[in-house]
Amino acid sequence: MHKITMLGTGLIGMFYTKTLHSHRGQDRVHVVYSRTETRARDFAATWGIPNWTTDMAAAIQDPETDVVVIGIPNNLHYEAVTMAAAAGKTVLCTKPLARTAAEARAILDIVEQAGVFHGYLEDLAYTPKNLKSLESIQNGALGKVLWARSRETHPGPHSDWFWDPEQSGGGAIVDLACHCIEISRNFIGKEIRPVEVMCWADTQVHPIAAEDNAIGLVRYANGAIGQFEVSWAFRGGMDLRDEVSGTEGTIWLNHFLRTGFEMFTAAGRSGYVAEKAEGETGWLFPVGDEIHELGYTHMFTDMFNALDKGIAPMETFYDGYIVNAIMDACYRSAKSRRWEPVVLDVWRGAETVEKAVAYIDYDEHFYLIKEEKMPGGKLKLILKNKETGQVIQQVR
Ligand SMILES: NC(=O)c1ccc[n+]([C@@H]2O[C@H](COP(=O)([O-])OP(=O)(O)OC[C@H]3O[C@@H](n4cnc5c(N)ncnc54)[C@H](O)[C@@H]3O)[C@@H](O)[C@H]2O)c1
Repeated sequence: MHKITMLGTGLIGMFYTKTLHSHRGQDRVHVVYSRTETRARDFAATWGIPNWTTDMAAAIQDPETDVVVIGIPNNLHYEAVTMAAAAGKTVLCTKPLARTAAEARAILDIVEQAGVFHGYLEDLAYTPKNLKSLESIQNGALGKVLWARSRETHPGPHSDWFWDPEQSGGGAIVDLACHCIEISRNFIGKEIRPVEVMCWADTQVHPIAAEDNAIGLVRYANGAIGQFEVSWAFRGGMDLRDEVSGTEGTIWLNHFLRTGFEMFTAAGRSGYVAEKAEGETGWLFPVGDEIHELGYTHMFTDMFNALDKGIAPMETFYDGYIVNAIMDACYRSAKSRRWEPVVLDVWRGAETVEKAVAYIDYDEHFYLIKEEKMPGGKLKLILKNKETGQVIQQVR
């Protein structure tokens, strides 16, 4: 059993605490930190937490806790990690790890030099649907992955600091594409190096100094492409969808707006519907068990199991650093309007990789391009002559 220091009493502090205290979990939040006394006290009372404080250092250094969970704004992650590592505590940090790759690298160095366990709290890599998909991909169900597409769009974040790039590090890319990039990385293979990025980003709607819409392509060393689409201006709730295409198959996932739970209410007394839901009447799309479907349950289970076994969790600060490096390249590309390299000072994956796809031999003279059953039942084969390069068709 672990005793936890929870930093932050906002949306994510709530989701994390709810997850940790659910399902008869053994690991408990022992002390909570918030800037204001009222919020700290109320949060502690709501979640049955024995201690609260408005002193971040005191919360981290509490002699009874061994794990620090960071759920405060992005510009405070560095300071919190520094203090937690100095105190020799396990440190679990929310996404994004940092505002830039340089800051993420400094954070990675701090935990590695201190030798403390570190976990990157990237919940959406742990949704039950993504974990099941990953298992299928690793079992070869999709063949070689060519294209992973991940989308997170909603009407914009719920607190002031997100909208100020000084504190947040950026707009929809830093806030949402961090999820999408890591989901695609998992599907494509974390050992495959992200090479370059092409990104469009714009401020289409809000009076802010950051982007509220962006689309990006991340090209990997084996030729696979990770695509993300993010928005802080999408209307209709929170749209979380992923797609993976491989040489042998396809997966389509919808995590939030169409989960098979649809409700109509004219009376509108359903209360809280789901994160970022825009309405309480008419057709609603509630989510059965939000913390489970958003991946928090499996994420903390992996973190604490790994901690107990003395092994790395699926998502570490190194992953957070790679994600920040990809996002830095996105910002450069949005500005230059060109493909920009992903600059990685630290790379621990494969140095050389095969191209994702190998041609299919039809026989010793031809490659098979494709075959299709035509109306009327005949089979059409499209073949390429290995020597001459000529493309022909045969009808059977
Ligand atoms: N799915 C996810 O993993 C997910 C979802 C939401 C937020 N987050 C991340 O969690 C972190 C917090 O986001 P949130 O949604 O909980 O924000 P929030 O605004 O709801 O809560 C932020 C918390 O930090 C505190 N805080 C704000 N400014 C502070 C300061 N200067 N000093 C000390 N404390 C301060 C607030 O009082 C509050 O307790 C961010 O890094 C965000 O990216 C992750």
